[in-house]
Amino acid sequence: MQEILKVAMPKGRIYKQASRLLQRAGLPIPEDVHEDTRKYMIPVPEAGMEFIIAKPVDVPIFVEYGVADIGIVGKDVLMEEQRDVYELLDLGIARCRMSIIGLPDWKPVLNPRVATKYPNVASRYFRQKGQQVEVIKLNGSIELAPLIGLSDRIVDMVETGQTIKENGLVEHEVMYDITSRLIANRVSYRLKHEPIRHLCDMLQRSLHETEARK
Ligand code: PRP
Repeated sequence: MQEILKVAMPKGRIYKQASRLLQRAGLPIPEDVHEDTRKYMIPVPEAGMEFIIAKPVDVPIFVEYGVADIGIVGKDVLMEEQRDVYELLDLGIARCRMSIIGLPDWKPVLNPRVATKYPNVASRYFRQKGQQVEVIKLNGSIELAPLIGLSDRIVDMVETGQTIKENGLVEHEVMYDITSRLIANRVSYRLKHEPIRHLCDMLQRSLHETEARK
């Protein structure tokens, strides 16, 4: 009997690019797996797969606990969550950067406050640079923080740059380039090695073909 591979897919921004990537690689993603689906478990028996549609921050948790064998998730989330999973492949999708952002006339102050959705990444980054900062964890609309005087700067993602532009902010420093990754549960990687490797090979081939066409 064929073993079912459980795949955690992130809702939101990455979703469309991730499902397009799987389709390009030749996987039959069904029609009802669309961006704004409210159905969270979607079996695709003909591909020997089941998709679990999750919030991006939960994808590494599902994979670490083995309720999903593999998952697609941004490197930003992986760096923040530091879960015990294998990172198998850089999928090259959802390309963006994590940056330090602030007002154009920002001036360094003692113990500045930094608001972010990524408190672990930000704390590590500033610690490594020997800079003392107070990190404030927010859950969204991070660009508000310097505008309303909650923080001096923010650490956040920049993709098109539209959000910072519309809020009159500028990038002070690019910290990390970010793309989405394919991750795997450590035990699943051993027990379901063949289907996971097969999927990796299909994705890798498709990524190379796309690269070659550029
Ligand atoms: C992300 C990020 C930025 C924005 C960057 O927010 O936190 O705010 O996207 O994208 P851009 O450079 O293309 O404008 P998201 O849309 O995930 O919502 P959030 O504010 O709730 O975090």
